[in-house]
Parts: sequence; structure tokens; C-alpha cells
Amino acid sequence: MLKRSFLGVLFFANVLMAQKFEKLALTPPMGWNSWNNFGCDVNEQLIRDVADAMVSSGMKEVGYQYVIIDDCWQGERDDLGFIQPDPERFPSGMKALADYIHSKGLKFGIYSDAGWQTCGGRPGSRGYEYQDALTYAKWGVDYLKYDWCNTEELNAKGAYLTMRNALYAAGRPVVFSICEWGNNQPWEWGRDIGHLWRTTGDIAPIFDGEVGHGSWNSWGVLQILDMRENIRQYAGPDHWNDPDMMEVGNGMTVNQDRAHFSLWCLLAAPLIAGNDIRNMNPVTREILTNKELIAVDQDALGIQGLKYLVKDNWEVWAKPLDKGALALCFLNRTLQPVEVKLDWNEFPVKDDEFHYQYFFNEKEYKIRDLWAKKDLGTTAKLFMTQIAAHDVVVLKLSPVK
Ligand code: GAL
Repeated sequence: MLKRSFLGVLFFANVLMAQKFEKLALTPPMGWNSWNNFGCDVNEQLIRDVADAMVSSGMKEVGYQYVIIDDCWQGERDDLGFIQPDPERFPSGMKALADYIHSKGLKFGIYSDAGWQTCGGRPGSRGYEYQDALTYAKWGVDYLKYDWCNTEELNAKGAYLTMRNALYAAGRPVVFSICEWGNNQPWEWGRDIGHLWRTTGDIAPIFDGEVGHGSWNSWGVLQILDMRENIRQYAGPDHWNDPDMMEVGNGMTVNQDRAHFSLWCLLAAPLIAGNDIRNMNPVTREILTNKELIAVDQDALGIQGLKYLVKDNWEVWAKPLDKGALALCFLNRTLQPVEVKLDWNEFPVKDDEFHYQYFFNEKEYKIRDLWAKKDLGTTAKLFMTQIAAHDVVVLKLSPVK
């Protein structure tokens, strides 16, 4: 009898804890992560300066929130097994850094690995999950990216579940970012474990192509876009497909950066900037802070876009939006400008997975160009535009009352 009521209390406590972790990512998380631009070269001054820049650049104002330190912040474990930050790079400790980030109205993210070592060769969390989760809670961590290097024969779902339970037990609400590169179909089991899951291997700062690193490759924007076409039904509020952190501002052309950002918004992807936001040029800043595009990504319906039309050298992605609206992204995959002509009546948008349909011959829509920031008439007329090489035109269609 006593045992049964004890189990009941435990069950109830677990349900309460699980509820604390719900609704932390009703829209795709937005923030900054150190890895794409700085790799292992991280230290507390950099992270403080990035937090400052997040505010002064206007990124915080448009919704970027998490400042995330990726790999290589770790030092050794102490005699009791508690992880310590690298004392040379983080001499003031992680609690002080978290306090600083919080004082700016931002949130603090950190990185670990389900294996015994991180990809960068620092201590991983395997066997120390509950201790690490407690430590993060003590420091004030709000977001954990959890990687998959050196996991040997571990079962992916089980390993991520262990860390999730450790985070629950530690009691501080944490956005949990599953990073096992899509190897074990995390979209099939990630929903109850984390808030987002990487769908592919690492992104590279190129638009079209791949970069070899010996035993593995990193991928261009178009390769990542094409790699996982049939998993949009798994995404939604609090559980997102993550095509990786952005490379906007890391060396692609302005057109390519604009296309990359737009596609991530159409995919309802987490918007985690990966450039040096302390020193970005005004064009990069404008791309990352385009409010109308961000509103597409953060739309309340939380529907990941679909490929709607494929022509010879251009294609259109569509994303159903709240209030009967629709976002369309016209993508030019080629290195030549392309002319686009579209008779709306011929091409209704049908989203069979989420049951949305847009018949332009039955209903008229107002058109807004989200990069030109201009209204362009309605769907009653033929749509014509030119798309520059490796660029996009993004429209928002709203029903005419
Ligand atoms: C990779 C991960 C990257 C980055 C890197 C750090 O596995 O996909 O985003 O976190 O490890 O070593």
C-alpha cells in the first residue's frame, strides 16, 4: 500500500516536471551559437561581447534570445566528478557568465555530448548525466545542445532519454536540442524527448556543394534543403526539425545569405545565427533581422513549409500561415538570373499533410514582397518577377477581405 502511494507521488512529480519543460519552444528557438564561426576558440570575453552585440545590433529586439557556447568550454571533472569549465578560458566561471547573459534579458545555452568525449575531445556526459544536469541547473543554463560523438554502441533514443530525465530531475526548465545528425531518425522519437533535433550532418558556409573532412562531409545550404524532404509532418510547436545553425554572414554572397535565411524561415527552422555578430556588416544585420521573414518562421501555426512547384531552374516553397495567409519562397538554384511567370489560377497550393488548400481562382490574395518590403497587387493578375542568381523572392499572400 505504502509502496503504491510512493510510486503514485513519484509519477505525479514526474508529470509536473515534464509540464515544466513544455511550451519552452512553441515557436522555433532563436539565438546565436559559437561553433560555425569560432569552432573551439571560445572564451568568456567573447561570449559577453556577443551578448552585448545581440542587444546593440537589434537582434534581441526581433526575437533572438539564446547565447549558446558550443564545444570546448569544458575543463576537467573535479574529484567528485563534477564538470568544471576550462579555467583559462572561463576564469570567472559559468555562473557569472550566465548571470551576465541573464542581466541582458537573454538566455544561456551550453553544449555537451552523449558519449564519453565531445567531438572536440573534451569530457562528455556519458555516465555523468545526472551530475551534469545538476551542474547546469546550478549555473543557470536554459538550453542544452547534446551531441553524438564517441557514443560507440549507445542506443540514441535511450541516451537522449537519460539526459532528458536528468534535466527533469535537476528541475530547471531547459530547451533540449538533440544533435545526432539525423542518423537514427530522431524525428520519429524526438518529440517527447527534446524540443528540436538536427536532421542532417553539419552545415558548411557554402550554398551548393560539400566539403570533405576525411571521414565525414559538411554540406551546403541546397544539399541540406534536399536531404530530408519527407519529414515536415514531424515538426510543430515544441518539436522542430533542425537543419543546423545558420551560416549567414560567414562568407557566402549576399544573395546566397538571403536565400539561406529565407529557406530556413520557410522550413520553420530554429534561427541560430553562427556568424561574428560583434562585427557584422549592415547587410548581414539586415538579413538576420528582417522582421517580416522572422514572422514567417515564428508563425503561430508552426507548420514547416513544403516544396510546392518545381520548374526547370526555379522552384517555390510554400508555408501555411496563421489567419489564412501563406508564405511563398521562389528560389533560383542556378548561377544565371531567371524570369518567373506564374498564373496563380493554374497552380493552387495543396498541403495534404496539414490540410490547407489555397485555390487562387476561388479566393483573391494580396501580395507582399518581404525583401523589397513592398505591396505588389493581388493574385488576380499574372505574377512576373526576375530572381537573381542563387537568390530568392519571398511573398506573403493574405486573403482579400
Ligand atoms: C558536431 C556538431 C556541430 C558542433 C561540433 C562541435 O557534431 O554537429 O554542430 O557542435 O560537433 O564539436
